[in-house]
Amino acid sequence: MAQCNGCLKDNTTGFCSSCETLLFNRSKVRPQLNFNWEDISKRIDSQPMGFSISGVQRKGFIGKPRGVEFVPKMTVDEKSQYIIKPMLSRFNLPDQSPANEHATMQMAKQLFNIRIAECAFMTFANGTPAYITKRFDYDVSGKKLNQEDFASVLQAAHKYTSKTYQDVGEWLSPLNRVDFLRILIFNFLIGNGDVHLKNISLLETADRDMMLSPSYDLMNTKIHLTDNLLALNLFKEFEQTRLPLGEKYRYSCHDFIEFGTRLKIREPIITKTIDSFDKKESQVLAMVDKSFLSEEAKELYKKNVAENYNLYRQTKRVIT
Ligand SMILES: Nc1ncnc2c1ncn2[C@@H]1O[C@H](COP(=O)(O)OP(=O)(O)O)[C@@H](O)[C@H]1O
Ligand SMILES: [Mg+2]
Ligand SMILES: [Zn+2]
Repeated sequence: MAQCNGCLKDNTTGFCSSCETLLFNRSKVRPQLNFNWEDISKRIDSQPMGFSISGVQRKGFIGKPRGVEFVPKMTVDEKSQYIIKPMLSRFNLPDQSPANEHATMQMAKQLFNIRIAECAFMTFANGTPAYITKRFDYDVSGKKLNQEDFASVLQAAHKYTSKTYQDVGEWLSPLNRVDFLRILIFNFLIGNGDVHLKNISLLETADRDMMLSPSYDLMNTKIHLTDNLLALNLFKEFEQTRLPLGEKYRYSCHDFIEFGTRLKIREPIITKTIDSFDKKESQVLAMVDKSFLSEEAKELYKKNVAENYNLYRQTKRVIT
């Protein structure tokens, strides 16, 4: 017996019962789909309008009508409740991207209590890997909830010329600011250099407020390419964009403390947050080991996490 395809729990074949509840409204689902990526992509290619969801990775929509297996879907509607991503079509270890995203999302949720888009690791009929995520932008009654990413939020607010995590944080409700600090520390430590403005969104709540959405598109990008430590500057005034790769965004816990202070998070909460990440390195490494990644990808992932933790624990730099 292996790991659950949802939560990675030991001694499970396919999905454990709590993941069936969470992901599939209690129905039994086999982790192997009965269609291939080509069955989705050929439909996409025949669509003149293309797809509206952004990003560079290939992706499609699938739905799960009650009591039936998953089926490819053409359009986004209340019946295409899932997004599916096949493996990368280029870069290093491309077939590891679904397991990478799945493991990283589960770490965010299980080790760091970050609210995520629920997700699973599956395979197509031909055995190639797939990442699926359940859409969070529909409520239980099937109503579409407004979602707006920060590329458009900040663009709409003309006064923002710089686009840094500080700009995003200041825009957020104080209720979301600790979450945002945690999300940034998480992505720094697990090696995600892809948290650009399109990967951070606001989502309409039941009482029609716009609050930080569950996190999505989390992965260790370093497995697949040479990437920045983060995607954007933390601070408005330290423009690091032109620094060489490796130097750029070399933050440590002291920078995250400063970041939290600027967002007016209370000091004891910042300290607690910083420490809680510091304590979890071994659990992160253990979760990588339990994941669906290959041995080679696990080694790369763990090596990168160890390096990031070293940066995180660096002593305070004196800026001259
Ligand atoms: N579970 C989800 N529910 C609703 N929208 C989602 C979900 N996952 C991703 N999205 C939306 O789809 C877009 C593309 O997904 P993402 O995972 O970021 O793919 P890519 O790797 O191509 O950037 C995101 O920017 C986000 O707006
Ligand atoms: Mg994205
Ligand atoms: Zn499970």
